Amino acid sequence: MKLIKTHILLLGAVLFTLEACMKDPEEKIPLSTASDEAYEFNLPPGFPPMDIPDYNPTTKAGVALGKKLFFDPLLSGNNTQSCAGCHQQNAAFADSGIKFSRGSTGVLLQRNSMPLFNLGYAKLFFWDGKSKTLEEQVFHPVVSQNEMNQDPQKLSLELSAIPEYRSMFGSAFGSEEVNFDRISRALAQFMRTMISHSPKSVDTGLLSAQELRGFYVFLDEQKGDCFHCHELGNFMTTFEFINNGLNLNSLVDAGLYNITGKGTDIGKFKTPSLLNLKYTAPYMHDGRFKTLREVIDFYDTGFQWHPITNLNLDPNLLKHFDKTTQKPIPRKWSEQDKQDLIAFLLSLSDESFIRDPAFK
Ligand code: HEC
Ligand code: HEC
Repeated sequence: MKLIKTHILLLGAVLFTLEACMKDPEEKIPLSTASDEAYEFNLPPGFPPMDIPDYNPTTKAGVALGKKLFFDPLLSGNNTQSCAGCHQQNAAFADSGIKFSRGSTGVLLQRNSMPLFNLGYAKLFFWDGKSKTLEEQVFHPVVSQNEMNQDPQKLSLELSAIPEYRSMFGSAFGSEEVNFDRISRALAQFMRTMISHSPKSVDTGLLSAQELRGFYVFLDEQKGDCFHCHELGNFMTTFEFINNGLNLNSLVDAGLYNITGKGTDIGKFKTPSLLNLKYTAPYMHDGRFKTLREVIDFYDTGFQWHPITNLNLDPNLLKHFDKTTQKPIPRKWSEQDKQDLIAFLLSLSDESFIRDPAFK
């Protein structure tokens, strides 16, 4: 018990210092320093410019350092697990085919790993939105006892003993000092470059007849009616936090509520992008569905509402729910419609992203 308390205290102290340096980064880095060329984002057509914080401009040297850190097992306490241990390129940087990842000490996590792309456009991070910036996000997996179980100061010492790292920190930040703030910034820079888009958006005319039919099922309010939450466009999500009725009792995992403490947030989770589903099974924050077919059957007959224990079911699903029978109202879609919808979802796969050497 005492041990746990000390850990909580320690974690509190680290969080406090981290927050302090996030709010007031001690070093302001000019956009281009002598050794630091700005990184040119090669955005797909239609992508808006990214909102990048002033204190962490994206530079070539910063991205290269972030990439090296992302794949380095030294980031974990026992040097066995890198970020890529749970975020693999062949799975669009989710954990391939796994419901729950194991941390570096062998503990099974309680949520499904998230794919990593287009993160520079999201406002909050993690299934429950516990991080407001990508820079801050990095801290959680590194120090979490169940994930990388690392002490940020020890990590900085470990890396600064390696000449190659010292020189890379020098190029990225103007001096060879290694500290956790810089580690987070470099990783955030690298993650902002992970951009993915659908190679076959509707206006390219590349969709097959079946995929196009599936697109109409996706839009049809009597059938799929998916687009309100997984908004059509570059990202295939609004990034909003929504309760989609996974649990009759949404306190099973209260999601966003754990962070905000607001009753109206119970059971809300970050709406995932529908890009790259081909690579990211299983699905949902708890990885409960192995196939897209299971996901669609869930939206057809499986989602839940309860006047007391799951009141926050989103109106876009509540309208398909019969409160008297306590069951979803059957939709007007055929077996063929469901097959077509799956074909459309699979068309949103960006193969060039999972093969891109920039992320290997
Ligand atoms: C032990 C497995 C594991 C490791 C190691 C790990 N992650 Fe994760 N990552 C997860 C899981 C699981 C989630 C979802 C957790 C949640 O929402 O509670 C996640 C979520 C994220 C997210 C949020 C994505 C979004 O769309 O909101 C980012 C970004 C991320 N991880 C980056 C990293 C980075 C960077 C590292 C290395 C410093 C790392 N992860 C190490 C398992 C891991
Ligand atoms: C009311 C909003 C809403 C509607 C309508 C909706 N979704 Fe979702 N969807 C979500 C949310 C929120 C999640 C994440 C839930 C979680 O894991 O807690 C999700 C998750 C998913 C996932 C899992 C993705 C992953 O990476 O794990 C798939 C696939 C999906 N939805 C497809 C669809 C399809 C297909 C439709 C239409 C039949 C649809 N959704 C309708 C909000 C919605």
